[in-house]
Amino acid sequence: MYNFDKCANRLNVSSLKWKYKDVLPMWVADMDFDTMPEVKNAIIDRTNLGALGYTDTPKEYFIAFKDFWKRHHHVDIDINSMIFSTGVVPAISSVVRKLTNVCDKIMVITPTYNIFFNSILNNNRIPVETDLYLEDGKYKLDFNDFENKIKSGVKMLILCNPQNPIGKIWDIEELKRIAKICKDNNVIVLSDEIHSDIVNPGKEYNSTLLINDFKDVLVLCISASKCFNLAGLQGACVVVPNESMRKLVDRGLNTDEVAEGNAFVYSAFISALNNGDTWLKEMNEYVYNNKKYLKEFIDKNIKEFKYEIADSLYLAWVDVSDICEDGLFLCNYLKDNAKVYFSYGEEYGKSFKGFIRINLATSFENLKEGLNRLLEGINLYKKEYLK
Ligand SMILES: Cc1ncc(COP(=O)(O)O)c(C=O)c1O
Repeated sequence: MYNFDKCANRLNVSSLKWKYKDVLPMWVADMDFDTMPEVKNAIIDRTNLGALGYTDTPKEYFIAFKDFWKRHHHVDIDINSMIFSTGVVPAISSVVRKLTNVCDKIMVITPTYNIFFNSILNNNRIPVETDLYLEDGKYKLDFNDFENKIKSGVKMLILCNPQNPIGKIWDIEELKRIAKICKDNNVIVLSDEIHSDIVNPGKEYNSTLLINDFKDVLVLCISASKCFNLAGLQGACVVVPNESMRKLVDRGLNTDEVAEGNAFVYSAFISALNNGDTWLKEMNEYVYNNKKYLKEFIDKNIKEFKYEIADSLYLAWVDVSDICEDGLFLCNYLKDNAKVYFSYGEEYGKSFKGFIRINLATSFENLKEGLNRLLEGINLYKKEYLK
């Protein structure tokens, strides 16, 4: 049994998440849990070896991904189709530059991971958005709108699977329809599957690799960084089944100098992927209990909020619009007045201003403290603004 009640104290290590003084951070997708001991040992062993010089990507890195994906997701990835990258975001930006041209349209399904917009806009491409809609508590894709927009000259789709921030696991039928539409219209699909293994007990995400129609249009980004909280080591694996597209992606990653890892990333990722099954299972159980606690807390104490437990992610997507239509304003208010900070909905799509995103990957003790601060802040807000 691993101890998820134990969280590292990151106040003096320049942690991005913990950068606001005296504020309990429940925003950026970064876990507070102690690093898996096997991963720590792998890093210590590498340190003890010394001579931390330039390091090639060892074959074992790709084999560890292959074995993990086979065990967990029933897909057999050819290791020759894999390329190392210093992160999913560097890979996305590089692939955008290499496989599309300036002023090309790139589609995203919103609400989605905010940094996709940066990768599109910073490279002078044009984002095209289609909003998911809620039906019976589940987010669904409007396939008419999706297809019409794809046919308007879109060159690439950036898919988030599972979908950050809402925790949607795309089902096989949805993926098949998306794949067919993209294939028929020569649209490249860049699928970001970094959250693949953060799922509620008994749930499984479906990789795009399971769908035949994706094969020739797919660039897949996977990593051990989100599930095992290793993002600070900067590693990912880009899988491109189509050989000629892979050559281009490989060239792009190398030209952008994001295809070589540091001396620690390989040992840490290999250890996590090879030894992490139990840690992952227990982490998902712990996070699921946090989700249930959040649900009970909101239903009991903040009835104006709407929250349903999603199948995936350690992030909770909460509709706060009955109290405040501007999630950004509310997040800043709570940060200043209740010393707790969340992410705001508009970051993930302009139609989602009335939402906040709560990070639950922390100890139960921190969660309770954060939610008590939230309640205190909401009560203050109501007194000030909702008389
Ligand atoms: C969907 C998604 N992709 C990518 C990233 C970041 O990936 P990396 O740290 O490997 O660049 C995040 C981080 O939260 C994410 O949520």
